Amino acid sequence: MAPMGVIESTALGLAMRQSMWLYPVVEIVHLVGIALLVGSIAVFDLRLIGFSRGLSVRRLAAHLLPWTLASFLLILPSGFMMFAAHASDFIASNVFALKMCLILAAGTNAALFHAGAMRGAVNWDVDAMPPPAARAAGALSLLLWVSVIACGRLLAYT
Ligand code: HEM
Repeated sequence: MAPMGVIESTALGLAMRQSMWLYPVVEIVHLVGIALLVGSIAVFDLRLIGFSRGLSVRRLAAHLLPWTLASFLLILPSGFMMFAAHASDFIASNVFALKMCLILAAGTNAALFHAGAMRGAVNWDVDAMPPPAARAAGALSLLLWVSVIACGRLLAYT
């Protein structure tokens, strides 16, 4: 059996297809996680772009980042559970592949920002326009996460 077929025929894959309520409940968990992830990230991105410069970037990051990370505890297991239900279809879908690449790109953008511009945030913490690298990272992040959401929703139509 092809590897994706094996995933589909596990007890998890079977339950996800056969139970009337499991898939929708898991999908709701995915959506709550997405709200927390993209919500916390978007609010920070807007600050990076240059809005609300009276708010400390470092304090805002200290409040938001733990919630961003916690959201993955909801998103990853639920995403994998839905994947397990129809693994062969998802793995063959260009939209699914694009979604995974976009998530990787968004993660890389965030990691580069934290290793780079964010290290010097003490210099533009309050009442200063963030440097171009931070503004670009914020704008790119918004664009990438909106694209991830679009690909996620489009999966239902492919
Ligand atoms: C990390 C950020 C992620 C975001 C922002 C995101 C976004 C979305 C969105 C908006 C939907 C549509 C939900 C709906 O139509 O009710 C969705 C569905 C889905 N996502 Fe994600 N997702 C993420 C991560 C993942 C991961 C890591 C996986 C799998 C390993 C995954 C697998 C799926 C699957 C299988 C569906 C179901 C499609 C369907 O049944 O139509 N997602 N996602």
